Amino acid sequence: MTVIVGGFFGDEGKGKVAGYLALSGSYNYAVRTGAINAGHTVVFNGKTYRLRVVSAGFVNKSTRLLIPPGSLIKLDVFLREVEELGVRGRVYVDYNTGVIEDVHVARERGDPVLVAIGSTLQGVGAAMADRVLRRLRLARGFAELGEFLVDVPSTVNEALERGEKVLVEGAQGTFLSLYHGTYPYVTSRDTTASGILSEVGVGPKLVDNVLVVFKAYVTRVGEGSLEGELSVEEIERRGWVERGSVTGRLRRVAPFNFKLAERAVMLNSATCIAITKIDALFPGARGARSWSGLPREAREWIEEVESRLKRPVVLISTGERIEDVVDRSRDLGVEL
Ligand code: IMP
Ligand code: MG
Repeated sequence: MTVIVGGFFGDEGKGKVAGYLALSGSYNYAVRTGAINAGHTVVFNGKTYRLRVVSAGFVNKSTRLLIPPGSLIKLDVFLREVEELGVRGRVYVDYNTGVIEDVHVARERGDPVLVAIGSTLQGVGAAMADRVLRRLRLARGFAELGEFLVDVPSTVNEALERGEKVLVEGAQGTFLSLYHGTYPYVTSRDTTASGILSEVGVGPKLVDNVLVVFKAYVTRVGEGSLEGELSVEEIERRGWVERGSVTGRLRRVAPFNFKLAERAVMLNSATCIAITKIDALFPGARGARSWSGLPREAREWIEEVESRLKRPVVLISTGERIEDVVDRSRDLGVEL
């Protein structure tokens, strides 16, 4: 089992990494944790998908897709995504998955604290609060979800027992964690590896790889500290302009931060690392698919990351397309 975790503030490229691994690693199951405030982008067969519920592992047609009990869906968002992706018949929702309703979205609108921290206002925090207060309605209470319902913890644990492969796709990033992030400028869940496993219903001993994903620079949407934040002019000059995939907001940007990365490695017990958007630092790396195809400076930077973080960099993303990856896992003896 491989767990994909965001190492910074979300938007590190977890969707791309999950899509790539589902295909290259022939995973039997892909579980997407988190909620609809998190958008994961994957570019596959010339099409860009922005996913809010279903795992980017959908790109592998033999991978079954699971929504675990600790995540939160919204009926309209979920059903629309199922149709758009054409995954009906291989997507399953746990009986106990939480359901966000219009009242939750309405309750967040205009909430002074949520507005001040730059919440996406998707109703996720309000629904989580209702869950804690034991009044949130769960998936098992909705007739529209009847055909999708399964016991996700049993499905995952039995698959692992049979020796099958499970990919767990976390959402958001380590420093948006409710417990370990920059509170109160955080989201409403624990985004670290342990929180992700708890949402799924599987324990830490069954994990083979904790793959922490870092982008080659740091971005953050919403408020909260961002060390080394660049001006808009500087972001444009470097070609690092990004917009949020759920809200369309401009993302704030800072250079790669080793201090944060070291802490993310610690908080998640990372076993290996993926680096995305290396081409943003080294344009010559664009589209490379082999270690020797990377410019020397890019290889040196990756080696610096490895020596400072003391973990192997197994995947390096070199472009938007799912195939644009330097996969060093085999060379480094890591089975993904
Ligand atoms: P909320 O979880 O929607 O209330 O948002 C709380 C904070 O987390 C805000 O700063 C959001 O911008 C941020 N956030 C929530 N989900 C994501 C995500 O998927 N990517 C990046 N930031 C996110
Ligand atoms: Mg995102």
